[in-house]
This record gives sequence, C-alpha cells and structure tokens, in this order.
Amino acid sequence: MSDKPKKMSGGKPTEIRRARKTPKEDEHNATRMMHHKVKTARGRKIGSKLWLERQLNDPYVKEAKIQGYRSRAAFKLKELNEKYSLIKKGALVVDLGAAPGGWVQIALELGAREVVGIDILPVDMVAGSQILEMDFMADDAPDAIKLLLGEAPDVVLSDLAANTTGHKNTDHLKTVALVEAAAEFALDVLKPGGHFVTKVFQGGTEKKLLDRLKANFEFVRHAKPKASRAGSPEIYLVAKGFKGKR
Ligand SMILES: C[S@@+](CC[C@H](N)C(=O)[O-])C[C@H]1O[C@@H](n2cnc3c(N)ncnc32)[C@H](O)[C@@H]1O
Repeated sequence: MSDKPKKMSGGKPTEIRRARKTPKEDEHNATRMMHHKVKTARGRKIGSKLWLERQLNDPYVKEAKIQGYRSRAAFKLKELNEKYSLIKKGALVVDLGAAPGGWVQIALELGAREVVGIDILPVDMVAGSQILEMDFMADDAPDAIKLLLGEAPDVVLSDLAANTTGHKNTDHLKTVALVEAAAEFALDVLKPGGHFVTKVFQGGTEKKLLDRLKANFEFVRHAKPKASRAGSPEIYLVAKGFKGKR
C-alpha cells in the first residue's frame, strides 16, 4: 500500500509509506517466560552472544512481543508520556529515528491524529502513520514532513541513535551532533506550545544545548524511564511549552 515515491527538491526520490488505521498489528503469541542461555557458536563474538542473551531474557522485549510492539523502546515513550502528558488526542507528531516503529505505534495508541516517522532505514508500515525513508538532516526533510502533516507538529520525538564506531570520543561527538541537530529541527518546525523529547546520553545534555532549550521552552527536565536499561548511558530530555524560536 505504499504510495509512489515523491520527488523532493533536488534530491533522490523519497519513499513515503501510508496506511489506513487498523487494530494493533503484529500480535504475537505469548512468549514463554524462561531464562535463555546462548551457546557461543563458532564465529559469534562474545559481545553479540551477550547481546542476544540479554535480549532473550529482557522482560521488556518479552512484553513488547506479547503486546505487539515493534521495540522495547515503546515502553520508554509510554512511561515518559504517563509522567509528562506529551501526546494529547488529536496531536500531530513527528518521530525522528522511527525504525522499527515502536514509538510510532505508541503515539497512535495515545490518540495522535497524524504521525510522521522518519528514518534512514526502511520501516515496515505502521497502520495509520506515514513514514519517510530519509535522513532528517536532509535540506528538504522539514518541508517533506510539513507537507505530510499539513501544518506544524505539536510534538517532535527523537529516539535517534548514531551508528557507533567503538571509539569513545568519536561516538560521543557523533551523538552530541545528532542531538543538537534534532533540537534545531524541533525549534524550526514545532508549533508554539509544542513539546520536544529527545534521547541524550550520559552526562546529560551539553550545557550550551540545555541553555538553548531552556530559553525556548517553558519546562525542561531529564528523565530515565524504567524501561531504559540501568546500565545504559541513555537518558531522555523532555522540553514542554515551546515559546517560539529565540
Ligand atoms: C533506537 S532506534 C529508534 C527506535 C524507535 N524509537 C522505536 O521505538 O522503534 C534509532 C534510529 O535512529 C535512526 N537514525 C540515526 N540517524 C538518523 C538520521 N540522520 N536520520 C534519520 N534516522 C536516523 C537509526 O537508523 C535508528 O533506526
């Protein structure tokens, strides 16, 4: 049910996928609640063995399967929304870094009127949403999103994660750049009174960015949802009440 690719100004055709709303998809059978051990097969690195073992034993991964969510990350947005009331019924929502689509599912479940997800990776359609397969930093991304939404969004979500290299400093710089770009994007497109949520990493948000967000929003807080792994350096930043770009 994907629409024909639309040509954005000066770039390659951008894939836009649309679907009608249907009841929650991807229902899975209940997963057996047992502890899984992974034998290290020849060629499998110890890091990927540990990752796989953690995935198989993670209660949020199991619950995501049971409830039909595409990612355990879905629970993070659910918790953030319970605490900070971000997505109201009828809201227009943009989700930066949407693959595989867990946050898109939650935004729709919370009653968003329109959700546009964007990712450099392909995302299987989430019924009721529109997905752009493109880099959100592309020059024509803001216009492409506005075109699909019809007006400025009420909420910009960002669960963006850079591809890591394993080199600590390089990864830190890549991540900081991604968060800054997401914040600038939100400041450029949000409706006054709108909200912005972004993943940031340990050490919190860089002071310069934090000051910028505090100047542009009524309320700015860091939050660590329970669904975010305790050992993970990720936390989230919630900015509410956009005052208009300053
Ligand atoms: C942790 S995942 C998002 C998970 C999602 N919130 C969910 O619940 O399914 C982060 C995503 O950010 C995407 N990403 C990273 N850089 C991007 C960019 N410049 N433009 C668009 N997407 C990007 C990655 O491709 C990846 O799919």
